[in-house]
Amino acid sequence: MNILLTGARGFVGARIAAAFPVNAAPSLRDMTEDGIKRLVDETEPEAVIHTAAISDIPTCEKDPDASYHANVMIPLWLAKTGVKAVLFSTDQVYGGCGHEGPFAENDTAPANTYARHKLEMERRVLEINPDAVLLRATWMYDMPLYGAANRGNFLVHMLLKQEAAFSAAQHRAVTYVREVAQWTQRALSLPGGSYNFGSENSLTMLETAQWLKERLNLPIALRDAGPRPHLWMDCAKAKAQGIRFRNTVDGLAQCIRDYHLGWSNASGIIIWIKLF
Ligand SMILES: NC(=O)c1ccc[n+]([C@@H]2O[C@H](COP(=O)([O-])OP(=O)(O)OC[C@H]3O[C@@H](n4cnc5c(N)ncnc54)[C@H](OP(=O)(O)O)[C@@H]3O)[C@@H](O)[C@H]2O)c1
Repeated sequence: MNILLTGARGFVGARIAAAFPVNAAPSLRDMTEDGIKRLVDETEPEAVIHTAAISDIPTCEKDPDASYHANVMIPLWLAKTGVKAVLFSTDQVYGGCGHEGPFAENDTAPANTYARHKLEMERRVLEINPDAVLLRATWMYDMPLYGAANRGNFLVHMLLKQEAAFSAAQHRAVTYVREVAQWTQRALSLPGGSYNFGSENSLTMLETAQWLKERLNLPIALRDAGPRPHLWMDCAKAKAQGIRFRNTVDGLAQCIRDYHLGWSNASGIIIWIKLF
């Protein structure tokens, strides 16, 4: 299958490119509608997986026009070409819901520019192309990957920092990005619509961090960051289609096994990271 992947050098895109065969699109920065149409006409993909975005929340707050171009207009122009599209969205669309969750796909209440733009993008893409698949991802983690962007993530924070703050009141999942990459191939055959797409987690962020600290005997000091928005997703809709992520703790345990991080003493972990 000829699959065009956008954002192929990004955090998620690089893992998708490593998981199954895709053709990497050039950068879409400053792309116009004509440019997107030309790209699709020239590459003739059977499907597009769209990961390119401005995904940093403070950057979107500071420059909403750039966020709107990247996070709303480019996806709309892709949808207008009529090609089957799988596009990434975010669990941030639940940030204003105000209770602990878990949130189903219709419970949206975005509370920042990034989330508002992503939700507008979902609605408008589906109006144009009801076959489009919108994947609401959680905060994702992995170890660094050669040749790919390595954005800050939960696992790397926990391994490298001496102290960190996570909320004892925030229900939120984190997801192993390699699981996301694998399930994205299956997402190509989902019926159109928005899907919560990641791990579930009944623990708070601080409890999740404490679990990881104990599991790896990490020398990190953890404290409560105070209230944060709940983002815990109910993934029943994706599960009904056969897409079943490990829960947050089981995903972390799988990542620990994949990278042989299960050493029993803290100094071992530090030496491993330094060598890496
Ligand atoms: N990472 C997470 O934890 C997380 C959580 C929830 C949702 N998501 C969503 O998942 C998708 C992938 O996230 P990611 O972490 O892989 O993103 P990322 O690494 O921050 O960025 C992906 C790619 O987007 C492209 N890009 C950056 N600025 C752009 C702009 N102004 N216009 C067009 N393209 C631009 C870049 O590709 P080029 O350098 O080739 O231009 C970049 O490599 C995004 O839709 C994001 O919103 C991510």
